[in-house]
Amino acid sequence: MDPTYVAHAHLHLFGSVLDPSRPVIDVGCGDGAQTAAIGQHFDRVIGVDVAPSAVERARKHHGAPGIEYEQLDLLKPEQAAALHERIGDAGLYVRTVLHAFTPEELTLAATSLAHLAGDTGGAFFYELAPASRDFIVGQLAGEGVPAEKFGFVFDRVPLPVAREENALQRELEKVGFEILSSAPIDYQGTVKAGGRHVNVPAFFVVARAGAAR
Ligand SMILES: C[S@@+](CC[C@H](N)C(=O)[O-])C[C@H]1O[C@@H](n2cnc3c(N)ncnc32)[C@H](O)[C@@H]1O
Repeated sequence: MDPTYVAHAHLHLFGSVLDPSRPVIDVGCGDGAQTAAIGQHFDRVIGVDVAPSAVERARKHHGAPGIEYEQLDLLKPEQAAALHERIGDAGLYVRTVLHAFTPEELTLAATSLAHLAGDTGGAFFYELAPASRDFIVGQLAGEGVPAEKFGFVFDRVPLPVAREENALQRELEKVGFEILSSAPIDYQGTVKAGGRHVNVPAFFVVARAGAAR
């Protein structure tokens, strides 16, 4: 599987939960590669990221008709509420964004996601598993690479935080999402060991807004 545009490959997992008549938000879109892939299947896709440099890069490299990018900080729920006010309920695609958040940050992010989804939005999460922290550190120890380096190749994000297996699902449920399905799935990133891609423990969650908040 080409990790660059993996959203294509995962369409069978999230395609049916994201309403094609609503905008799809690629939350924490990074360089926009997945945003562009999603844009091939949905009429309106908005990539949002806290980093202005990411938004700029995404606009430059992964712009297309129907695709927009803007800055949004998931840790500031008022920003998500303002975006929801402008565009209404949206479908959410979230790939490897939440793993480095502290418990308090995860709660804030879940509140933002609930604002964005509104009463009807579906959501797909493809996130590094809590076990990925030890896995990554172990891989790096085996390769003699300092752990921070892995953060560097992982788009400069910090290592995943240690948390319980179902922490994300529980946070989502607290803000009113219904979990429709969830399962382990490897994350294949850009890291190679011995010439082969490293598969990092990850998981996906398919959810739907709608429970009383
Ligand atoms: C590992 S990258 C993943 C990028 C993209 N989703 C992908 O799969 O290629 C994590 C992204 O989350 C963004 N991010 C981190 N904290 C954020 C926040 N508080 N609000 C919005 N985006 C955030 C980072 O700027 C970065 O672009």
